[in-house]
Amino acid sequence: MASNISAADAIFRPASRIASVGVSKILAIGARASAMKKEGHPVIVLGAGEPDFDTPDHIKAAAKEAIDRGDTKYTALDGTPELKQAVKGKFARENGIDYALDEITIATGAKQILFNAFMATLDQGDEVIIPTPYWTSHSDIVEICGGVSKLIPCSADAGFRLTAAQLETAITPKTRWVLLNSPSNPSGAAYSRDDYLPLIEVLERHPHVWLMVDDMYEHIVYDDFAFVTPVAIAPHLKDRTLTVNGVSKAYAMTGWRIGYAGGPKELIKAMAVIQSQATSCPSSVSQAASVAALNGPQDFLKERQQSFKERRDFVVEALNSIPGIECRTPEGAFYTFAGCAGMLGKTTPAGRRIETDVDFTDYLLETAHVAVVPGSAFGLSPYFRISYATSKQDLAEAMERIKKACSQLS
Ligand SMILES: Cc1ncc(COP(=O)(O)O)c(C=O)c1O
Repeated sequence: MASNISAADAIFRPASRIASVGVSKILAIGARASAMKKEGHPVIVLGAGEPDFDTPDHIKAAAKEAIDRGDTKYTALDGTPELKQAVKGKFARENGIDYALDEITIATGAKQILFNAFMATLDQGDEVIIPTPYWTSHSDIVEICGGVSKLIPCSADAGFRLTAAQLETAITPKTRWVLLNSPSNPSGAAYSRDDYLPLIEVLERHPHVWLMVDDMYEHIVYDDFAFVTPVAIAPHLKDRTLTVNGVSKAYAMTGWRIGYAGGPKELIKAMAVIQSQATSCPSSVSQAASVAALNGPQDFLKERQQSFKERRDFVVEALNSIPGIECRTPEGAFYTFAGCAGMLGKTTPAGRRIETDVDFTDYLLETAHVAVVPGSAFGLSPYFRISYATSKQDLAEAMERIKKACSQLS
């Protein structure tokens, strides 16, 4: 028997849990840039969220060996013992922190780690404190999982870092997590030991608040910046901290989709419940490759770091030479997050007034054919993000074009 429903009921209706989550502005800009390229415009896209290096050969070889060995079936739900052991070794060797194997989880990218963790812990209306500018997915995942992102603006003057006073004020009885990302996508700002200590003091006073740290860009830091992860300085917070990391950025393995985390056993178990009904397990071949990444030679990381540093220095200097643009020197990652307040109120040669950072980045795309992402996509305006994970030639050309476009504003 046919259901008694009206035509209006038959149209597609998205679930309310995605009501506040739009299509990523970054993807939208990428799509526009691709369309312009197809029309024949020489667009340079400075939006990539991945290293422009290749995955090292020894990692690829390990994947091929895994296939030949027959490692092509489901693995243990939240990671093979070999990869968990490699992660344990990495945490001990590089971070000075000790996680048992049952305190470690492996997922299909750090993104799934975040998703598993929030899905496993957030009830409707639970709050997650997220400093802005933030990586868009941090907030979107919280919202999809029924949580409320409590966004705290952290300006360039504050080094784009959350202060203890801001954290103290933001905490309520509904706060479940504070989520910190160091070095940050999009600002490149990183928290030193001294930056973390006052935040740790605040957390000590609020035992109901858990700490999630996204250390994804750990290996991309400059100028002798000493990367540290909070559990190393505050072992007493280990029982309410999730230390998130992955192989994507350090080893140029974004397509292999492996992320990992260390955290309290009960949380790790709860995350496995989510994973078991989402992906069953991470890819067997990618896990074998990640063992090689974590246990293999690490010397190429320094060379890659140096290459990124040269590009960072070039971009920061070029941006700061443009009147009206101010760019803080980031400690890490491969992004600059420059202020464009000096461009607001100006008029384009076509007579359009630049009112927002979106207007400014639209102008750069249309006039200079350079695609960058407005700060509003990361919750802080007026700024724009450049990814310098691209060739020096493209960066030099893009900076020339941006400079010229800015000089034509009146
Ligand atoms: C801060 C941050 N965390 C996590 C991720 C996701 O990494 P994965 O490729 O492991 O899902 C990204 C990717 O852009 C990122 O920028």
